[in-house]
Amino acid sequence: MYLDPDDEKILAGEQGETRQKMLELLVAIGKVFGAERLVRIRSAQVSGASYKTIGEHGLSWLSSLDARVVVPAVLNPIGMPRERWKEMGVEPVFAERQQAVIAAYERLGVSLDCTCTPYYLYETFFGDHLAWSESSAVSYANSVIGARTNREGGPGALAAALIGKTPCYGLHLEKNRKPHVIINVVSDEKDWDIARYGALGYHAGKLAGNKIPYFRGINPDNDQLKALGAAMAATGAVALYHVDKITPEAKKGRFTLPGLEVITVEPPEIDRLFSEISVDAVAVGCPHCSPGELGVIARLLKGKTVTKPFYIFAAQGVIDKNLKTVRIIERGGARVFADTCMVVSPVMERYSAIMVNSGKALAYVPDMCGAVARIGSIQECVAVATS
Ligand code: F3S
Repeated sequence: MYLDPDDEKILAGEQGETRQKMLELLVAIGKVFGAERLVRIRSAQVSGASYKTIGEHGLSWLSSLDARVVVPAVLNPIGMPRERWKEMGVEPVFAERQQAVIAAYERLGVSLDCTCTPYYLYETFFGDHLAWSESSAVSYANSVIGARTNREGGPGALAAALIGKTPCYGLHLEKNRKPHVIINVVSDEKDWDIARYGALGYHAGKLAGNKIPYFRGINPDNDQLKALGAAMAATGAVALYHVDKITPEAKKGRFTLPGLEVITVEPPEIDRLFSEISVDAVAVGCPHCSPGELGVIARLLKGKTVTKPFYIFAAQGVIDKNLKTVRIIERGGARVFADTCMVVSPVMERYSAIMVNSGKALAYVPDMCGAVARIGSIQECVAVATS
C-alpha cells in the first residue's frame, strides 16, 4: 500500500506509540481488503461507546491510548443520557462505568455528541470520504448524501479519526457503488409514512442481503430514506442503496440497469409486519429524530398526557436547537433523551413489549432488549402512549 512521507514517520513511531499503532491498524485493514492507498476523511463516527457493549476490556484499551483526533469525530449512542441518566432510571453502578468510557473518549478529543445521526450536526457533502461506524449512519451518508464510507468497526473508525485517513477500498471507490439488484415496490404511495418505509426496509434488507439495491416505485423524503436505510442495514448488510430519481447517484443516471435481477415487493409483504399487540412502552427515534420528526411528535402530543412511558431519542445538538418543540413534547409526560436509544440502553430491558415506528428497532428490540416489538405509525405511537 502506498504511504506518504508523513505516514512513514508515523509508522516509524515519530509521533508517539498510539498514532503508530493506529496507523498500523489502518494499514493492516487496508491490506486485508486490497486498498492501494489511504484517503483523507472529513469526519469519523465511532462505535464502541456504550459500556453495555464494550465492558471493562474496551474501557481499559481506550484508557491506554494517548493521542488526539485530527478530524471531527462523534460517538455512537451510549447506554444512557449523559445529563439525565438518573431520570431515565439508569443504575449508578452502570452510570459510573459509562462516564469513565466517555471520559476516555473525551481525552482523545472525540466530541461527546453520542448519536447515530452525525449528519444533523456536521456538514457532510456529496463525495466526502468518511470513516463512520453505525450502520444507519453509514447507509444515510452513502445513499442519501452520496458521501463515501465503509461500515467501520469501532477501533478502525477511532484509528481513522486519530490519523485523519482511512484505507481506500470498498464503497470509497466509484466502481463498487453500482446497484446489484432492482427492487420494484408495488404501491400507490398514498399513506406511506416513516414506519411504512421502515417496514419496507426490514423486508428489503432480507431480500438484498449484502447487495446494493436500486428501488423503483417509491418517493421517500429524507426522513423516510433514513428509516428505509436503517432497517435494511439491520436485517441485511446494506450499506448503500439507490432510489430511482431520488438519491444523488441515481439522479446522475450513471448506472446500467438492464440485465440486473429484479425483485418485486407487493403490499401484503409489508402489511404483515404491522400488528396490534398491546405494549407497555413506546419508543421512537431509531435512528435519532430529525428536527422535522420532533415537530410532528410535538404537534401530535399537544394538550395530551401520556399514560405509558414514551421515550423519544435525538442528538443533543438537535435537542438544543429545538428546545421549544422539546418542551411541548415533555409537557404531557413524554421524555426526549439524548445520547442513547431504545436498543443500547439497559433501561429498556424492563419492558416486555415496546411499540416503535422504526424497522430497525423492530429488528433489534427483541434480541437487545428481550421485549416483543410492534411497529406502527407515529400517529399510532402517540395514540397508544396517550390512550
Ligand atoms: Fe441509532 Fe440506536 Fe437505532 S444507535 S439507529 S437509535 S438502534
